[in-house]
Amino acid sequence: MFVATVQHEEIPLAGGDVTGGVVRVGDTVRRPCRSSTRSVHALLRHLEAAGFDGAPRVVGVDGRGREILSYVDGVSAPRPLPAYAVTDGSLAALAVLVRRFHDAAMGFVPPPRAIWEAGSNDDAGPELIGHCDINLDNVIFRDGLPAALIDFDMARPTTRLFDVVTALRHWAPIADPVDLEPLQSSLEVGPRLRVFCDAYGLAARDRRGLLDLARLRFDRSYHAMRTRAVTIGGGWARMWENGAGARIRRACAWLETNQDELHAHLI
Ligand SMILES: Nc1ncnc2c1ncn2[C@@H]1O[C@H](COP(=O)(O)OP(=O)(O)O)[C@@H](O)[C@H]1O
Ligand SMILES: [Mg+2]
Repeated sequence: MFVATVQHEEIPLAGGDVTGGVVRVGDTVRRPCRSSTRSVHALLRHLEAAGFDGAPRVVGVDGRGREILSYVDGVSAPRPLPAYAVTDGSLAALAVLVRRFHDAAMGFVPPPRAIWEAGSNDDAGPELIGHCDINLDNVIFRDGLPAALIDFDMARPTTRLFDVVTALRHWAPIADPVDLEPLQSSLEVGPRLRVFCDAYGLAARDRRGLLDLARLRFDRSYHAMRTRAVTIGGGWARMWENGAGARIRRACAWLETNQDELHAHLI
């Protein structure tokens, strides 16, 4: 019997800053493997078993040594950012998505000798494997709302609060006004911190420490990114040359100036 095999073409997926060679092939995405891929796959398999539907599924590794993940239907936010990406509704939906991810990740036991990407972190002991890179490019929207997290390359042991801080840095956003996208300029950051924390259900103790941890994170991320730019190069070096370090410094200074006013919205 003749069986038709569908030869899918490889469609480059732009949008991320770092990983070269991300392509869509039919219903799958192919990405280069890295030393942490085996551990990340264990996490993604755990999320699937736990019933969390907001992450790609692991399909395997292809003949060219690339990881195969399911293609997540939806859209990622293009630039300039569209209106749906900056609404309070999107922010609240993201918080619910991150909360569901965290609750599902709590039961994950990493495989023996798990390898995770190094990066900046909290001083508090790790509670779970967090995503650690919840920026606007790593979220898939459906019907104008965040529906899934992608790109778990930076996942590593951390705290819930550290992931929350990373999400808010990009999504509130905690940034100097000179670095904002046009549609972000009119956002009220203080009230948006609260929208996220309420939708996530963040504990009072964590709300009290959130902005101090954000400042610590800025400082550590600056050094971590500079190290990556020098030691890894590639997309990291490009981001650094494009002013990523200066943007972190400006964001931290802006936060310091506005911290008391922002904090008032969290208590
Ligand atoms: N599993 C997936 N489903 C749908 N789109 C994806 C998936 N993985 C990646 N993409 C698309 O490809 C882009 C770049 O991929 P990403 O894994 O985020 O690479 P990078 O490490 O460079 O950030 C994403 O912003 C998204 O648009
Ligand atoms: Mg990405």
